[in-house]
Amino acid sequence: PRVLVLAGGLSHERDVSLRSGRRVAEALRSANVEVAVHDVDADLIPALAETRPDVVWPILHGASGEDGSIRDVLDLLDVPYVGTGPRASRIAWSKPVAKSVVARAGIDTPEYVTLPQSLFRELGAQAVMSAVVDKLGLPLVVKPSRGGSALGVSLVRTVAELPQAMVSCFAYGEVALIERAVDGVELAVSVVETVDGLSTLPAVEIVTEGPYDYDARYNPGRTEYFSPARLPSSHAEAVAATAIAAHEALGLRHISRTDLILQADGTIQFLEVNVAPGMTETSLLPQAALAGGWSLPTLYRSVVDHALP
Ligand code: DAL
Ligand code: MG
Repeated sequence: PRVLVLAGGLSHERDVSLRSGRRVAEALRSANVEVAVHDVDADLIPALAETRPDVVWPILHGASGEDGSIRDVLDLLDVPYVGTGPRASRIAWSKPVAKSVVARAGIDTPEYVTLPQSLFRELGAQAVMSAVVDKLGLPLVVKPSRGGSALGVSLVRTVAELPQAMVSCFAYGEVALIERAVDGVELAVSVVETVDGLSTLPAVEIVTEGPYDYDARYNPGRTEYFSPARLPSSHAEAVAATAIAAHEALGLRHISRTDLILQADGTIQFLEVNVAPGMTETSLLPQAALAGGWSLPTLYRSVVDHALP
């Protein structure tokens, strides 16, 4: 088949996306797939017309890639693609909306509030921040309600750390998601739909000295990963079931990665889901694939074959 990988674009995660796109393209080429990579710009439609792909694989992280807008264009042009459709992408891309959808499906997720920046201007930062701490306590995690690669995310241990966290967060968007921080093992579970059907890849466990931030994600050696995660099989099965439940509740398709925390008492807390999971050399899904006995060319080829019309 002929595949057009879409990567790059203009989001904050442009560089990550270019790395992911290149890796997937290389893997597909070694699985005898004809691949072109397009760095998404205003020439998207001419590029589609020129390459005439059998299927497009949007490996665009961040806004426009994950918020559904590029997928809207692909649907409009009736071009088949790997991954979730536009409406479900929009839902998944908004962390608070995704949390409320999975909560309705019976999945636990940390208690949270959302705060538009305008509320800070209307009520004053001090009043808003003390209301948040009264409601959720400390520590807290502050993140942009839409975003990826932990950009603009801060752990807040004391009230004094909150103003800086809000500033960092609002640099990436108008709405903040503030969650109660939960302790436990940080895990990522990828779901793939291949020609053999829907399955999970082994959970990957993330161990960092400091925060699992942008640098810790993309500089090799900064983070220790255990793939598969060091879990008893009952917990491994439970986190896999949670990832499948989130994938299905959110109406995701072909590929997703759910990030969660396993607490000491066995409770699984959903953090978020990614419709365009990172595929770089340090990313989680490729590590999970290898732990699951896949070669990347075989897995990606099988996902593509499944997505073909
Ligand atoms: N947003 C990055 C690419 C990830 O979730 O892997
Ligand atoms: Mg994410």
